[in-house]
Parts: sequence; structure tokens; C-alpha cells
Amino acid sequence: MVNLTEKIISLCKRRGFIFPSSEIYGGFSSCYDFGPLGVEMKNNIKKAWWDEMTKLHENIVGLDAAILMSPRVWQASGHLTAGFADELVECKVCHKRFKISDVQVSVSKNSNSEKMLKLKFQNSKCPQCGGELTQPRKFNLMMRTFVGPVEDKASQTYLRAETCQGIYVNFENVLSSMRLKIPFGIAQIGKAFRNEITPSNFIFRMREFEQMELQWFCYPKEANRYFNYWKQERMKWYDNLGIKKENLRLVEISSKERAHYAKRQVDIQYKFPFGWQEIEGVHNRGDWDLSNHSKYSGENLKYGNKDKKDKEIYFPYIIETSVGVERCLFAFLCDAYQEIAGGRTKTTKSTKEIEILLKLDKKITPVKIAVLPLVKNKPDLVKKAKEVYQLLKPHFVCQYDEVGSIGRRYRRQDEIGTFFCLTVDFESLKQNDLTIRYRDTMFQERIKIPRLIKVLKEKLDE
Ligand code: GAP
Repeated sequence: MVNLTEKIISLCKRRGFIFPSSEIYGGFSSCYDFGPLGVEMKNNIKKAWWDEMTKLHENIVGLDAAILMSPRVWQASGHLTAGFADELVECKVCHKRFKISDVQVSVSKNSNSEKMLKLKFQNSKCPQCGGELTQPRKFNLMMRTFVGPVEDKASQTYLRAETCQGIYVNFENVLSSMRLKIPFGIAQIGKAFRNEITPSNFIFRMREFEQMELQWFCYPKEANRYFNYWKQERMKWYDNLGIKKENLRLVEISSKERAHYAKRQVDIQYKFPFGWQEIEGVHNRGDWDLSNHSKYSGENLKYGNKDKKDKEIYFPYIIETSVGVERCLFAFLCDAYQEIAGGRTKTTKSTKEIEILLKLDKKITPVKIAVLPLVKNKPDLVKKAKEVYQLLKPHFVCQYDEVGSIGRRYRRQDEIGTFFCLTVDFESLKQNDLTIRYRDTMFQERIKIPRLIKVLKEKLDE
């Protein structure tokens, strides 16, 4: 039996959502390219998140920091030391990483040679799920690179492993240039890179991905309140975009398992075909970032009126919400994918034949509208349908399709989640109207062509 992940991988390849990177050279481990529909869907997710943060919330501004930063940033952030650079083993099943000391295996003091460790780990199991462990390795998730023509230590830096560090180092710049007052937020979307030991599950864990991160700066005593607020706001965002409630949950992460910077951490998990997994982290990072960047850079990153002694001056606490665009996209695909045995349309011949329906939210779905002449061999119909397509194309992501029976074409569009199909028929030539078919209900009604743009914009909330 083909499982859901495999079905989605196949659909993504077949219909132009996602391709393996460098495929003609045999692929490139854990990197993926987003095809014509994938890039539209990704852009829609990013727009929905950006609008939510910068338009629908108060006091949030945007930023687009460079991927390459001073290596001192990563010293201050703890990425070159804590967690990110330890000798680790990773479970091949649940992908949790453990320090050697945390794995239940007795390694005697004089058996520390690499060979002995290898032997010991062959027999030990993941403390979390009992899965097989990788060999222990000194591992830093940061991807190293060199800036400038000489490849020496002085020119070495890293591709960022999380986008938020660009926000922290610009805290003062944004605060003063925008004349902001606490509490306020900085939102950013951008690429991040991690040299994952075991990338897996299609686009779930990759080495190059995009993050959408909000850093909310607040008074320390209000951090708990805002932590709870943002956790709920983020759950609402998924809900508004149609993710099924039963497939989403919040999980409080214990102090032992938290990221090195987090005072408190809640994961938003999605029920993927391979189990419940994190899609987003909500963190109370306390003053870890601003105090460390202050210490390492020598700049005073405290907030408050620094000229007046009587006023409180403090490092703001940071509440962070951090989600991977691709992981989020994968969750949306899993949630929307439906197979209808026997089909909904009249074109399905046998009850065993399966129709695919991708019930993506109208904001997320890559193609909003398909324009279809009822039949291909009537030049008047084709001409009119092409005119409609040209009329709509500047306003919406549209496809024009005249190949195959009308039923087959509806099925092709349902499979990629196209929200409306517009059919130009013989009546259209006389009435200057067409049929609009709703993807989820297959309900059809007629609309006059001159009203189309207005009506569709209303229906799509655009
Ligand atoms: N700034 C905090 C931070 O980066 P994280 O929990 O390491 O926290 C946040 O990452 C989100 O980024 C994850 O919930 C996930 O959606 C995404 N992410 C992390 N590593 C990823 C990877 N290797 N591939 C795809 N997405 C990843």
C-alpha cells in the first residue's frame, strides 16, 4: 500500500509543486526545488503570514537581514557551542539528538577511544523511542563558508542556522529608526541552513529551508502573558487557513529538551502521516539574545531612557514564534489531500477509480482560477475563453486548459486545488456570461463576464 507521504511526493512531482534538487545529476540530498505551483503556494503561505503579522497585528514591523553575518554573531548566540556543536548521536527513527552522556550506555572512562565508542553505540537504542542510533559524531549544524578570496580561518563564517539573529543585531537600528516603544515585534522571512545529520521525510527536514519568524520584545514581567497570547494567535492562524483542529496540537517542552536559549517552549505539532511532529516553535527566549549580543559586541542593547537614572533600564524579553515555510506547506498538503473512490465527476468510469481533491484554503491554493472552453473544436468558444483568460490573468493566478473532456479538465484542476473553474459554453456567446464551478461543492452558477473580476475578488477575499 502506498502511504500518504508517497502519494503527496508523487502528486508534487507530477503536477509541478516540488522537484528533487539537481535531479538530472541524480538529486542532491535533502534539497528540493519548488516548481511553478510550489512557488505560488509558498508565496501564498508567506503572504498570509506576513499580512497576519504586519497588517493584522499592532506594532510589528518587517526586516530582511543578510544571510551572511559576522561569525561573532554565532559565538554570541551559542550556536558554535551549546547544543549545536556537541558530540551527538541521532535516532534514525524519531531524529532526536542526544549528547553521549544522555544515552543509556555505559562507557567506561578508559574506553573513550573512537573505536570503543563505535562498538558501544552499535548496541544502544534511542531513549525516546527505542530506534537505532547513528554513530556519535562531533557535529555542528552550522554550514561553514568563506567570505572573500582567501580560504583561511579569518575569512570563515556560516550560513545562518536561524533567521532571528539578524533581528537581534538590528534591535537598536529598528527601535530608533521606527521610533518604537515596547512591546513591539519584528517579523522576518528568509532562508536558513542546517547541516542536518539525518534529513528525512521529503521536505520535512531539509538542509536548506525558509523560516518565518516573529520576535516580540516585551517587558520581562509581561513575557508569560505574551507567550500565552502568541501561542493562541499562532493556533488561530492555522485554523483560519483551514487546518483540521484534530490534526494540530500544542506540546509543552520540558526543560531538559528545550533549545539552549529557551526559558519556556511550546511546539505546535501537526499529525503527519509519519506521526505528530513539530511545525512551529513558540519560545520565551528571555534576555538570552540581547544580553549575549551586548556582552560580545560591547553595545548597550538595554531598553529604556538611558539618560535618566531614575527610569528602569532593562534587557527586553523576547517571545519568538518560528515556523518553517516548507514544513508548513507540507502540513497544508497533507491536510488538504483527499481521495474519492468512484469519483465525484461523471468522467470516473469505475468505482475503483480514484479522484484526487486538494482542498486547500483559497488563500493558500496555488491556482485560483481555470478558464475552460466547453469544447476545443469550436473556434468561437476558444476565442472567447482565451479573452476571459487574458482579462483575468493580471488579477489572479489562472490556468487556461482546452485539452480533453470537460470532466477530465475539472478533475485535473481539483487535483491541484484550483478554487474555481470557469467554463465558456455556447450560451456564453449569446449572453456574454459563463459558468463558475465551485471546487468543494461542484455547485455551478452563471456570471456575466463584465462582472467577473469584481465577483471573483470578493469570493477570493482579494
Ligand atoms: N529561531 C528558533 C528556531 O529556529 P527551531 O525549532 O530550531 O527554532 C523553527 O526551528 C522551525 O523551523 C521548526 O519548527 C521548523 O518548522 C523549521 N525547521 C527547523 N529545522 C528545519 C529543517 N531542517 N528543515 C525544515 N524546516 C526546519
